[in-house]
Amino acid sequence: MAQLWGGRFTKETDKLVYNFNASISFDQKFYKQDIRGSIAHVTMLAASGILTDEERDQIIDGLNGILSDVESGALEITDTYEDIHSFVEANLIDRIGDVGKKLHTGRSRNDQVALDMKLYTRDELLEVRTLVVNLIKVLHQLMKDNVDTYMPGFTHLQKAQPVTFAHHVGAYVEMFKRDYSRLSDIYDRMNYCPLGAGALAGTTYPLDRNLTASLLDFNGPTLNSMDSVSDRDYVIEMLSAFSTIMMHLSRFSEEIIIWNSNEYQFIELDDAYSTGSSIMPQKKNPDIAELVRGKTGRVYAALTSILTTMKGIPLAYNKDMQEDKELTFDAIDTVKGCLALFTGMISTMKLNKPVMEKSAMNGFTNATDAADYLVNHGVPFRDAHGIVGQLVLYCLDKNISLLDMSLEEYKAISPVFEEDIYQAISLEECVSKRNTIGAPGKEAIMEVISINEKFINLIEE
Ligand code: ARG
Repeated sequence: MAQLWGGRFTKETDKLVYNFNASISFDQKFYKQDIRGSIAHVTMLAASGILTDEERDQIIDGLNGILSDVESGALEITDTYEDIHSFVEANLIDRIGDVGKKLHTGRSRNDQVALDMKLYTRDELLEVRTLVVNLIKVLHQLMKDNVDTYMPGFTHLQKAQPVTFAHHVGAYVEMFKRDYSRLSDIYDRMNYCPLGAGALAGTTYPLDRNLTASLLDFNGPTLNSMDSVSDRDYVIEMLSAFSTIMMHLSRFSEEIIIWNSNEYQFIELDDAYSTGSSIMPQKKNPDIAELVRGKTGRVYAALTSILTTMKGIPLAYNKDMQEDKELTFDAIDTVKGCLALFTGMISTMKLNKPVMEKSAMNGFTNATDAADYLVNHGVPFRDAHGIVGQLVLYCLDKNISLLDMSLEEYKAISPVFEEDIYQAISLEECVSKRNTIGAPGKEAIMEVISINEKFINLIEE
């Protein structure tokens, strides 16, 4: 049991207490960040005249040695240390002797762990954002390829009005663009350095906190030492943004599962992204989409957990906050895995365009357009709605679609109908007439595609 704080104790810690308290099993994940933070800290201590340049160099050499030995596997992180901070400091002292004991000058594990967690989540947040961009690019290509691919749009999962696949996918592009911007906002807000806050009340040493912040690529130091060690807002914000990403992926997965079903057959998932059944030879299951939908719960759980952990904690640091890590790490891995797999699944699936188009023709998705036709010929909308209702009933009875009715049949219900009704309620016309920005008409969609193109180019610069 290697601890940093034995001095005022007269007894060994109970083994169970030690294990309950220890965090090394999970905080070893940020050994790199811990060492990077320590190197910045001693660089600043020397620049501020608190350590000599020689001491700084010895400590930095020692820290770099630990880093490369951990990376090569020569040095193993074991549970004989309470946490990653103890591991690094104890190994440093073993390596370079007493000068290693100066590393922790003007620092507490409270500001140290706040820094490590921020450095770690900051990098992961950027990785998640890159995965979001990759998904946006795949969806953008799908939009470009499918401006003329007709399909039914649904409300209440009932066929409503015809749209195109580009329009449907475009809805998700908007969602993931918002996710991208949410992650960017969080990055900007979190990017202030807590190191130098000490245990909670700063230190008596003349630390140059601006220097530490700039060495670690932060915008500047945090401005209140009590807040610095007890702030986990950025974890909450990040998990909230991740939950929203998962909610979007989950909704999309649900649609993929429906579209891939035997009844719909709008799409076919690639064999590489499907799984079979151990008993039913005919099965090809959308397990990836189902798992993405299912895993959404664990990311929500991480958010709920940290919100609950934080709600009753008085200022400043309390050990409860050690609970910020495990579920956050799990949520990061989950979101990254889901984004990568979902992107692969979407980019390899095949569209069954004739089935989608046929489905858009059936189910009276053009009923609103038939009513609009009557309105354009002087019939008040409420009367038009009633007349088209009669047409639908008639078709249901005969098991035909509006386009299958003869002009005589139309005229029998309303004399206003003329030959041009067929053109007015054709699939192409129903979609192409809807051309205000945001609508499925080709011109409107092309405009959005070019806006998205600019967005992608901008974020890739
Ligand atoms: N393992 C601790 C955590 O994750 C590090 C900080 C410990 N500080 C302390 N005063 N015990 O929060």
